[in-house]
Amino acid sequence: MLVLKMMKRILGLLIICMVMACQSVYANTEAVKLQKSPNQVCDKASLQRGARLYVNYCQSCHAMRYVRYKTMAHDIGIVDEEDKVLEDVVKTNLNFISDNIFDSMNNGMLPKDGQKWFGITPPDLTLETRVRGTDWVYTYLKSFYVDPTKPWGVNNTVFPSVAMPHVLGELQGEYVLDPKTHQLTLVKPGKLSVEEYNQVVTDLVNFLDYSAEPIKLKRQKMGIGVMIFLVIFLVFAYLLKREYWKDVH
Ligand code: HEC
Repeated sequence: MLVLKMMKRILGLLIICMVMACQSVYANTEAVKLQKSPNQVCDKASLQRGARLYVNYCQSCHAMRYVRYKTMAHDIGIVDEEDKVLEDVVKTNLNFISDNIFDSMNNGMLPKDGQKWFGITPPDLTLETRVRGTDWVYTYLKSFYVDPTKPWGVNNTVFPSVAMPHVLGELQGEYVLDPKTHQLTLVKPGKLSVEEYNQVVTDLVNFLDYSAEPIKLKRQKMGIGVMIFLVIFLVFAYLLKREYWKDVH
C-alpha cells in the first residue's frame, strides 16, 4: 500500500514538473498574441515567390538541409507542360550555392562562424513551422523593433533578445515599441507598404510550411479525391441497402 502511495506521489510530482517545463518553454509565446498566418500551401505562385525570397534573404544564414532543389522545384510547380523541372529556371533563380539541382538547400556557413558572429548558430529552418507553428513565424517576422541596446540595433516582441538581425528591415521599415501598450508603431517606412510586406511574410511562411511538410500538398489533393469517392460510394451503399432490406418488414 505504502509503495503504491509513494508511486502515486512521484507520478504526480513528475506531471507537475512536466507542465512547468512546458510552460517555461512557451512562456515567451504566450506573452504576445500571435497573428493568424493567412498562408495557403496549395498556392503555387505564393510558394514560388516564397522560395525566391528565402534564397535571397534567409539561406545565407539558415540552411534547409532536408530539402532538395529538384524535388522542391517540382513540388512548387517550376515545371514545363510535361511536368519536367525547368532546370535553367531553378539554376538562375534559386540555386546560387552550387549548380547541381540534386543538392540539398545547404549554405556555406560553418557552425563555429555562426557561433562567433551571432553567439548562436542560425538554426536549420526545414522544420521550423512544425516546431513553432506558422502563426508564430508569421508574427515573429512582423515583430522586430528598434532597440539600440541590442547588438543588431533591434529586438523582437515574440522572441525577446533575439540574435538575428532584421534582414527584412529595409523592406518593412522601422518600428518602435510603446512600453506601456506593447504596441508597435511605424516610424520610418521601408520600401514596401504594410500590405506588401504582409504578402512577403505570408509567402515566406508558406514556403516554410511547405518545407516542413511537403506531403501536405499531395494530401490535400488526395483528400478531395477521397471525398468524391465516398459520396459516390454512399449512393451505391444506399441502393444496396434498399435491395437487401426490401423483403424484410
Ligand atoms: C544574418 C544571418 C541571418 C539571416 C540572413 C536570417 N536569420 Fe533568422 N536567425 C538568425 C539567428 C542567428 C537566429 C537565432 C536567434 C536566437 O536564437 O537568438 C535566427 C533565428 C530565426 C528564427 C527563429 C528560430 C527559432 O529559434 O525557432 C526564425 C523563424 C528565422 N530566424 C527566420 C528567418 C527568415 C525567414 C529569414 C529570411 C527572411 C532569416 N531568418 C534570415 C540569423 C539570420
